[in-house]
Amino acid sequence: MIPAEAGRPSLADTLRADARTAAKPQLAVVGATGAVGSVLLGILSERADIWGEIRLIASPRSAGRKLTVRGAEVEVVALSEEAFDGIDVAMFDVPDEVSAQWVPVAVSKGAVVIDNAGTFRLDPDVPLVVPEVNAHAARVRPRGIIASPNCTTLSMIVALGALHAEYGLSELIVSSYQAVSGVGKAGVDTLRAQLSAVSGTELGTTPGDVRRAVGDTLGPFPAPIALNVVPWAGSLQEDGWSSEELKIRDESRKILGLPELPVTATCVRVPVITTHSLTVHARFENEVTVGGAHEILAAAPGVVLSDDPAEGEYPTPADVVGTDPTWVGRVRRSLDDPRALELFVCGDNLRKGAALNTAQVGELVAAELQG
Ligand SMILES: NC(=O)c1ccc[n+]([C@@H]2O[C@H](COP(=O)([O-])OP(=O)(O)OC[C@H]3O[C@@H](n4cnc5c(N)ncnc54)[C@H](OP(=O)(O)O)[C@@H]3O)[C@@H](O)[C@H]2O)c1
Repeated sequence: MIPAEAGRPSLADTLRADARTAAKPQLAVVGATGAVGSVLLGILSERADIWGEIRLIASPRSAGRKLTVRGAEVEVVALSEEAFDGIDVAMFDVPDEVSAQWVPVAVSKGAVVIDNAGTFRLDPDVPLVVPEVNAHAARVRPRGIIASPNCTTLSMIVALGALHAEYGLSELIVSSYQAVSGVGKAGVDTLRAQLSAVSGTELGTTPGDVRRAVGDTLGPFPAPIALNVVPWAGSLQEDGWSSEELKIRDESRKILGLPELPVTATCVRVPVITTHSLTVHARFENEVTVGGAHEILAAAPGVVLSDDPAEGEYPTPADVVGTDPTWVGRVRRSLDDPRALELFVCGDNLRKGAALNTAQVGELVAAELQG
């Protein structure tokens, strides 16, 4: 046996450590430089270290950049077929069209893909997974793909799943107050640029004064987002609905296994950097009480109840940002309907709304691959 020098691991220790690393699944993060990808690298660094190599992939524009994950600098490689050599699990955080082209390539190279884009979410052969609600679905993946829901659905569904398990959900009406990072880095850059254009002014008192001040810096938004709210998120669909509103409907139905659930959503963009909020009117099969809902929410994994209006206690994006759980407050029984609850819900759209859910699904897959 080769003895260890003081302070240095012995050869045997090194070989054992290498063997452990070899047994761990190899992970690729595709879109590592983006809004979701950057948060994912932080989350992978904080959670249990279950991965062997973590390979960072982005567009050729970012190849050669160095990013930190698990305390070490890792060089970003350009997306290519070879980039998936030896990869067991690939987490995709890229635009829809990139995911449509490259997810099948990663699967063909033997990787299980967890995709954050909208591309495969409604494919009947692709499970749409939120571990607190339907972890079992992750095991059945005929296409080798697991989808992660959109950030607005994810910001409420853990709390709703817990209430549904007890009371049986029969109808959902929601309005969202969505942060600008929901459209990626471009959204954040736009709000910050507009905030500097209006800061220190008396703007917001006459029609169009804010619009004139921000000029042609609307970025990905159809109207000024500083000092404003914009009743639009996503692209225009049939009959005036937005894509984001339809995603909430379709994805909630799929995750909860309620294909006929009546769902109505109105999506609104607000000048918040990160953390989506929603008002929720949820109707159930059974009568509800505020006390009962409090008990369910307080005990639900991944949910924090923050509901004491007399003390000014309710969640707001400014306090919730950077945290993992879904925060719920303003719990009331509807005045005219003993089967309905009104809630205000906040969730960090980049953490549980995207990167954290992906990491949690990855942990389910890794356990399965190793088990
Ligand atoms: N933001 C949210 O709250 C949220 C929540 C849930 C799901 N999602 C979904 O997650 C995905 C990523 O969103 P994001 O907000 O992180 O977007 P983002 O900030 O714009 O980042 C996009 C990422 O994709 C990479 N990329 C773009 N084109 C590429 C190409 N042709 N080849 C390889 N890589 C390419 C970018 O690399 P470069 O830096 O090299 O360009 C970057 O890493 C989207 O599908 C989005 O719908 C977002």
